[in-house]
Amino acid sequence: MDKIISLCKRRGFIFQSSEIYGGLSNTWDYAPYGVELKNNLKRAWWKSVVYQRDDCLGMDAAILMHPKVWEASGHVANFFDLKSDCKGCKKRFKTEDLKGSKVCPECGGELTEGKPFNLMFKTHQGPVEETSSIVYLRPETAQGMFVNFANILDAKHPKLPFGMAQIGKAFRNEITPGNFTFRTREFEQMEVEYFVKPEDAEQKLQEWIDYRFNWYLNLGMNKDNLRLRPHAKDELAHYAKACVDIEYRFPFNTRGAAGIEEGSWSELEGVANRTDYDLMQHEKSSGKDMSYFDEETKTRIHPYIIEPSGGVDRSVLAFLVNAYFEEKVKDEKRVVLKLHHDLAPVKIAVLPLLRNRPEIVDLARKITQDLKKTFVTVYDDTGSIGKLYRRQDEVGTLKCLTVDVQTLEDKQVTVRDRDTMLQDRVGIDRLKEYFREKFND
Ligand code: GAP
Repeated sequence: MDKIISLCKRRGFIFQSSEIYGGLSNTWDYAPYGVELKNNLKRAWWKSVVYQRDDCLGMDAAILMHPKVWEASGHVANFFDLKSDCKGCKKRFKTEDLKGSKVCPECGGELTEGKPFNLMFKTHQGPVEETSSIVYLRPETAQGMFVNFANILDAKHPKLPFGMAQIGKAFRNEITPGNFTFRTREFEQMEVEYFVKPEDAEQKLQEWIDYRFNWYLNLGMNKDNLRLRPHAKDELAHYAKACVDIEYRFPFNTRGAAGIEEGSWSELEGVANRTDYDLMQHEKSSGKDMSYFDEETKTRIHPYIIEPSGGVDRSVLAFLVNAYFEEKVKDEKRVVLKLHHDLAPVKIAVLPLLRNRPEIVDLARKITQDLKKTFVTVYDDTGSIGKLYRRQDEVGTLKCLTVDVQTLEDKQVTVRDRDTMLQDRVGIDRLKEYFREKFND
C-alpha cells in the first residue's frame, strides 16, 4: 500500500486534502491522472447499468434533501454505529470491530461500553441557525431516487422491472475512517435502485449480484481477489432483508479483530434486497401514493427494491491495487499500472526520438493533435526514450508511439504496448483505425 500511496502522490493521482495546512485527515483530492481514472470508472459503470440495458434510467438528485426524508428512511433513528473509547489511550473504536472484547487492542486499557453515534452530517440551511432549518448531507444517494419514484412513473411510464441509476457524493461522519481512500467521510457512490414485483425479488437479487460481479471481472479484476459474502442476519442494515457483498482482498486489514487474512477481504459493493420498506415509509410520511399500477393483475402494488450499491473511491483504489506490478526488465525495475484500456487515464503518449530535430518534433506534435480528437493523448519529449517509457508505464498509458528518422521517409511510427512491451510499425494514416481496434473489446 505504501508504494501505491507514494505513486499516487508522486505522479498526480491522489493528493492529501489541504496539505499546505497540515492536511484534513482522511480527506483526499483527485489529481490529473486520478480524476481521469475516476471519470473512466464512472463512465464504465454508467455504460453498463444505463446505456447497455433497456430497463434503467439515469438520475442526478440533489445532495440536500428535505429533513423528513431522513426521518422516513429510518436514518435519523437507526443510522448509527456503536463506539467504544479506551479509558487509557483515548482511542476510539467501532464496537463491532472489537468482536466482544473489552480491552483496547492498542494499549490493553479498559474500554467503555458501546454508545450509539449517528453518522449523518448535520448542517443548517439559510441564514438563521434554528432547528427548523436543519438539513443533512445525504449518507446515501438512494433516497434521491426513492422520493422521485412517482415522478419517474408519470414522466416515463416504465413497466416493472425497471431501475434508476445515480452516481454522486455521500457523506458519513465515520468513527474509524482510514486506509487511504477506503473509508472516508466524503465519498462517491454509484447506486442502482431496481424496482421489481415482490415475488421476483429473490431472482432479481441474484441476477444483479452476477451482473455486478462480472463487471469487475470484465474490467480486469483478478478473480482470486474478488469474492461474494452474504450478510449474516445481525449485520443487515435496518432497511434490508438480504444483502450480499462483493468483496476485494485489499493489502490492508480493515476489520482489525477479524484477523489479517479475513480482515483484508472488504466490501467494494453491497447488493441488497430493500423490500418495499423505503416506498412504504415515504408513502406513510409524505402522504403521497408510492404504489405502482400493475396492468396484468389490475392491482396496485408496492414494488420491492433490489439495490446494487458501490463505492467509486473504493473501486478506484481496488483497481489501482489490482493493476500495480513491479517487473524486472534488463536488470532494472519497471513499475507498471496494468489498468484496463477503458480505465487507463491516458491512452497514447507520443514521444519524438530526437528532440533536437525540428522535422521530427513537428511531425510528433502534429500526430498528437490529430490523435487528441479521438483519444486521450499526451506529448512528451523531456527525457531519454527509456525514461519516457518508464514514466508512461507508471501511470498506465496503453501505447507509446515514437517518431524517428525513418518516419520522415516511410511515414510509419513505432507503437509499443504497455503490457507486452512488443512493438508494431504502423502507417501514420492507419493510426486511428489501429488504436480503435486495440482499445475495443
Ligand atoms: N444505499 C446503500 C448503501 O449506502 P453501504 O453498504 O452503506 O450501502 C455502499 O454503502 C457502498 O458505498 C459501499 O460498498 C462502499 O463501496 C461505499 N462506501 C460506504 N461508506 C464509505 C466510506 N465511508 N468511504 C468510502 N466508501 C464508502
